[in-house]
Amino acid sequence: MRIAVFISGTGTNLKSLIDAQKNNEFNSTIELVISNKDAKGLFHGLNANIPSLVVKNDEEILEKLQEYNIDFIVLAGYLKRVSETILNNYENKIINIHPSLLPKYGGKNFYGMKVHKAVFENKDEVSGVTVHYVDENLDSGAIILQREVSIVDCKSPIEIKDKVLEVEHILLKEAIKKVEEEQ
Ligand code: GAR
Repeated sequence: MRIAVFISGTGTNLKSLIDAQKNNEFNSTIELVISNKDAKGLFHGLNANIPSLVVKNDEEILEKLQEYNIDFIVLAGYLKRVSETILNNYENKIINIHPSLLPKYGGKNFYGMKVHKAVFENKDEVSGVTVHYVDENLDSGAIILQREVSIVDCKSPIEIKDKVLEVEHILLKEAIKKVEEEQ
């Protein structure tokens, strides 16, 4: 698959995918990185010589996806809602990584640190990671892989984030491999 990775932030998941590609951990290639803002993580794409662009308008994103012959999209910390324009052109070809055990801590008010803060405040002992297909509803598409993370020893939301991120970096590449095998 020719993959576009969408990011909005630090891009540690993007970096882990770039490393996994280098180590031949999946067959697909990352051909394009898109961000909706001047995200720190764009550096990882540029550093790996992958075209890495800030594109805010979804019509323009679609043009770029077509220009680079992209057939699969990975949302790796992309915090903007994907519009119908893109969804209709990439049905069942978009996946997202979310830092919780969906359907817990999913939906409009839960993303990034907001998830970890809520998990911490609720004194949960287990959190986790979900990789799922993206459909027209938020965080609700079919689950590809899900993994629990014990957080009993975490003393702050940041400690939870760090522990969950380590698992995200493993699960996302495994999910891409699983999708490749299913295609
Ligand atoms: C990750 O924890 C990812 O699961 C989360 O944003 C973070 C991005 O980190 N995504 C969501 O909350 C989506 N709803 P990264 O930029 O370092 O990969």
